Amino acid sequence: MPATILVGTQWGDEGKGKVTDFVADHMDFVVRYQGGNNAGHTVLAGGRLLKLHLIPSGILYPHITSVIADGVVIDPRVLLEEMDTLNARGIDTSRLVISGNAHLIMPYHLELEKVTERFLGKHALGTTKRGIGPAYADRAARIGLRVQDLYDQKIFRQKLDVVLKEKNLILTKVYGRLPLEAEGIVEDYMGYAERLEPHVADTSKVLWDALRAGKQVMLEGAQGTLLDLDHGTYPFVTSSSPVAGGALASTGLGPHEVDRVIGVTKAYVTRVGSGPFPTEDTEADGERMGERGQEFGTTTGRKRRCGWFDAVLLRYAARLNGLTEVFLTKLDVLSGFPKVKVCTGYRAGDETYDHFPPHQSLFHAARPLYEEVEGWEEDLSEARSFEDLPKAARAYVEHITDLGGVPVTAVSVGPSREQTLLSP
Ligand code: IMP
Repeated sequence: MPATILVGTQWGDEGKGKVTDFVADHMDFVVRYQGGNNAGHTVLAGGRLLKLHLIPSGILYPHITSVIADGVVIDPRVLLEEMDTLNARGIDTSRLVISGNAHLIMPYHLELEKVTERFLGKHALGTTKRGIGPAYADRAARIGLRVQDLYDQKIFRQKLDVVLKEKNLILTKVYGRLPLEAEGIVEDYMGYAERLEPHVADTSKVLWDALRAGKQVMLEGAQGTLLDLDHGTYPFVTSSSPVAGGALASTGLGPHEVDRVIGVTKAYVTRVGSGPFPTEDTEADGERMGERGQEFGTTTGRKRRCGWFDAVLLRYAARLNGLTEVFLTKLDVLSGFPKVKVCTGYRAGDETYDHFPPHQSLFHAARPLYEEVEGWEEDLSEARSFEDLPKAARAYVEHITDLGGVPVTAVSVGPSREQTLLSP
């Protein structure tokens, strides 16, 4: 049974949690494949709203096994806190499976990110300050500690001593901070180790077996295509690979295991943190989208920057991820605009681009080329089928299919499952 990849097509926060919720009935495994607790989704758990950062939202369904794959960076303190919160709400977390190959976020990653972001001043990336970048940097430098290291205390201590020596020199000599003590870290992490042990497994084998047994597996990305380390708006990106190819590398599955790639696209665009955003609207329209769409970061609470739909980004995401379909979210937020703008290309220098420009400076200078389509006044939140949508809203969806070159197969008009309309 082939797997499905779920990927954001913009700068994250496209509503991927909503799609997981919608398809959960048909899934047996939901796998988080990259990032760490920089992500966040709000879920309804035990009758109350709950913010999850690391654990896939599949955990809410007793028939689903949730997996944290090799390519994720794990802050064990945060993970255990999330598990405790879920358990306190009566949600069983015993089915959570964690890869032993996943890297650990360590206290010095958090400390270093704080000081380096400050050091960058007005060039700061605007990260979530959860230690994600420093943890991935250590992974690439081959000085990271992994979940499996927790189960060999001697090795853990050895690796920690080596790395801490260097980190403490940087913290004290470069940034004038206090050094961190190995003892305290070992004590804390050995405590985490004990609690996490029943969950640690060879997740690529677990998934391979699951697919062989005909189980339905969904690989869920965090962040989005434009935050991809290689293909996003570097350097204003995250330090991992949210694109569909990253899902395979991170989970340890081969390309033949996947036959469906769902791109989650918001009916407008948002971004948190620094970096270029051609269709950003800092005036009344953007404000209105932010208010109606409740656009505040789940992890940091920061106000998200808002702007009009950008077909160039969707075409780029369709190409990079090999999207087979698009799930369009938050269409209801656009009600009440007399005209809706859609960016179909950019102007940069003397050139016009209908595809993502090949040089970063061009993207920074890109001015959107808009077309205006009819808006709609009606509240869409009560719509229960595609036919219930006003004509202009349906035309907008069909237009997005045409502009992106990938069929929009579902449209979301609110947070609940019933507010998901399947395209005819
Ligand atoms: P980092 O992932 O914390 O290193 O942050 C790098 C960039 O990615 C910053 O601009 C963050 O705001 C952005 N970012 C990270 N995670 C998310 C997310 O889940 N949604 C939206 N933006 C994110």
